[in-house]
Amino acid sequence: MSGAAGAETRLVLESADAARTRRIGALIAAVLAPSDVLLLSGGLGAGKTTLTKGLVGALGGDERAVRSPTFTLMVTYETSPPVAHVDCWRLEQLAEVLDLGLSEVLDDGGIAVIEWGEAAAPLLGAGALRVHLSAPGELAGERRRIVVSDEGASPRIAALGEAAAAAGLVAADGPA
Ligand SMILES: Nc1ncnc2c1ncn2[C@@H]1O[C@H](COP(=O)(O)OP(=O)(O)OP(=O)(O)O)[C@@H](O)[C@H]1O
Ligand SMILES: [Mg+2]
Repeated sequence: MSGAAGAETRLVLESADAARTRRIGALIAAVLAPSDVLLLSGGLGAGKTTLTKGLVGALGGDERAVRSPTFTLMVTYETSPPVAHVDCWRLEQLAEVLDLGLSEVLDDGGIAVIEWGEAAAPLLGAGALRVHLSAPGELAGERRRIVVSDEGASPRIAALGEAAAAAGLVAADGPA
């Protein structure tokens, strides 16, 4: 883990399989607060939806119901707090989704989880927690490197780092 006030704090995790990525999603859920935004990036099949399953499950939802919201644009899960799950291929699409209810979910204390979150950064990047997953095949076997980053000296990344270390999910080779 690294970082100081004004800079970025990042934590590099490593997941050997989909179950561990779901577990990382659950650990991330524990450090999010109402109205937080989580931006997920990483290419096709990286594990953005898999991580979201763990997050939704940890907040009391049914993780089997979680799919990439590619055609629906936004799905809201009845978790506590509620989670709005969004696919953001283009910024214009996000503007539409904000109008279609995402703004209201955030105003009411819900959490936004946005796949292809890099496109959302101009509108929702300020204060967002960011997670980048490595592409399938980049690391050996089914492994994924999962880099979590936040602005400034981030207490939530510090808490996540402790939980992940206790679960043996911190990457051995440090920052990538
Ligand atoms: N370590 C791992 N972490 C996450 N998923 C993994 C891992 N190893 C294998 N997988 C598999 O890779 C696939 C990841 O798919 P998932 O839908 O989560 O990716 P995605 O990033 O949401 O893709 P898309 O861009 O299509 O929405 C799943 O089938 C999952 O079981
Ligand atoms: Mg997906």
